[in-house]
Amino acid sequence: MSGLAMAQNKIPDFTEVIALDREQADATADELLRWGLDRWGDRLVVASSFGAEDVVLVDLVASIDRNARIFTLDTGRLHQETYDVMERLRRRYDIKFEVVTPRTELLQPMLQEKGPNSFYESVDARKECCNIRKMEPLRRVLATADAWVTGIRRGQSVTRTDAPRVTIDVPNGGIYKLNPLANWSEDDVWNHIRDNDVPYNSLHDCGFPSIGCTPCTRAIKPGEDVRAGRWWWEDPTSRECGLHARASTDSANL
Ligand code: ADX
Ligand code: SF4
Repeated sequence: MSGLAMAQNKIPDFTEVIALDREQADATADELLRWGLDRWGDRLVVASSFGAEDVVLVDLVASIDRNARIFTLDTGRLHQETYDVMERLRRRYDIKFEVVTPRTELLQPMLQEKGPNSFYESVDARKECCNIRKMEPLRRVLATADAWVTGIRRGQSVTRTDAPRVTIDVPNGGIYKLNPLANWSEDDVWNHIRDNDVPYNSLHDCGFPSIGCTPCTRAIKPGEDVRAGRWWWEDPTSRECGLHARASTDSANL
């Protein structure tokens, strides 16, 4: 049985998750992470793309347990600055990251048939690339987990305004999803980074508030939306790669 099929066998208990989200409403990010680690241990995985929110998560998680599982989806198209901060964090906290890479047998046909930059040609071609480089690797790692943690904040985009702190991620196999920073502001994130001298991606100092793959991310101009530099050539309504499709309880528990 494939990992995805196993993950889909989980039967979500929506009443429980809504109650858990309410119960954890006043917990700090640190407390929520401790609770998650106590409850799921190595069946909890932390997702890091090494943006500002994610370096905060790494700092908090590594301070609780340096053996906690932190994974990154290395699409093969990341900025050198992203690899640099990954390395600085690895050394600073003496931790190991689970680096998940795309499958060659899926990547190779796309590259051979459509070339290295097919994502600019259409939304479908862009989604095919995101599926191969991000979604399939994500499903593989989530098949080994009962809960995942992300750096999503409500203030990041209109699609995230009601992001809960505890939810069930139905599109990603019915496992739990924790968003410990959901209620943090951008200032909260940067205050934490500065107060704790956390290594961060130097692209943030060059006009990149949101960082993804190199060919699909650009710097933004003053006054532009923080996600305006992601897949900037597309209509704003299609600009999600699928990692964070809305979960069923996202608006039920408000
Ligand atoms: S995305 O869907 O547009 O790419 P975004 O960059 O805002 O997402 O990141 C939101 C959260 O998704 C991050 O805080 C992180 O938890 C997770 N995430 C995004 N990209 C990756 C990646 N390449 N590897 C691991 N986690 C990621
Ligand atoms: Fe491919 Fe761009 Fe998606 Fe990265 S963000 S996986 S390069 S389409």
